[in-house]
Amino acid sequence: MTALLLALPGAEPMATELCGHLNSALLKWEFRRFPDGESYLRILGDCAGQDVVLVAEMSQPDEKFLPLVFAAQTVRDLGAKRVILVAPYLPYMRQDTRFRRGEGVTARYFARLLSAVIDGLVTVDPHLHRIHDLAEVYTVPSNVVGSAPAVAEWIARHVVHPLIVGPDEESEQWVGEIASALDAPYVIQRKRRLGDRALEIDLPDVSAWRDRTAVLVDDIISTGTTLARSVERLRQQGLEDVMAVAVHALFCGDALATLDRTGLSSLVTANTVVHASNDIDLSRLIAEGVRELLSGLDNN
Ligand code: R5P
Repeated sequence: MTALLLALPGAEPMATELCGHLNSALLKWEFRRFPDGESYLRILGDCAGQDVVLVAEMSQPDEKFLPLVFAAQTVRDLGAKRVILVAPYLPYMRQDTRFRRGEGVTARYFARLLSAVIDGLVTVDPHLHRIHDLAEVYTVPSNVVGSAPAVAEWIARHVVHPLIVGPDEESEQWVGEIASALDAPYVIQRKRRLGDRALEIDLPDVSAWRDRTAVLVDDIISTGTTLARSVERLRQQGLEDVMAVAVHALFCGDALATLDRTGLSSLVTANTVVHASNDIDLSRLIAEGVRELLSGLDNN
């Protein structure tokens, strides 16, 4: 594959892994802030006529968005054939409707802004809830990489008798797949969010599985509240051994301290956002996603 990869700030580890899997080279560039905070960038290699794959780590997205847009526009100005974005964590998927009068539906606005500067998108398990398909909001082709096979493989290697627990109704899409790959039972909780750090959770009767290791599987850890409440509910029903696996390790504010207090036996995440808890490498699956997207574009 002849695409060049450009690592946005924070995405260097993933970009390096992808270069290996795709047999591609990194496009060197210089990025810094002017004293007033504006972005300066300069592409140091030749990208004319080439596909350029921007690799972006998009946690805390607001400060990363303009550098990404400028990088996309600069490589296009310099003659790139196509500009592809790999954003293993895709932000701005949760405000997907107007819950209260006057709110902005930022999932739609963000998708529109991004679609204006790229030709294709590869991401991992975007938070699809009221939006069922990225094509509803992104106007460029996208390829969604599912983490479930890699998560199931990790659980198979580390847990003998798991009970897979989904924290809320949305989680059934990946929890069901993981449980079926493991031939393990699963349960789905009901969650009602009352605020950023306030929620109610109902857990079905799981007392029959007290001898199993409860493995909570969620797509995102943000404040840690969902997982912390879930652990409480499981303990109330007598499940002592509880661990958690998540895809996108945002860990906002005091999330880690909140989760430490729960006594989880272990907490692991995938490497879509760099964090000490990363133990599930998705780079090979993401590389396949890039290959598929590019060949799809070639055939159109
Ligand atoms: C939301 O519905 C997601 O699937 C996660 O459960 C949620 O983003 C986790 O957020 P927090 O860690 O703040 O509870």
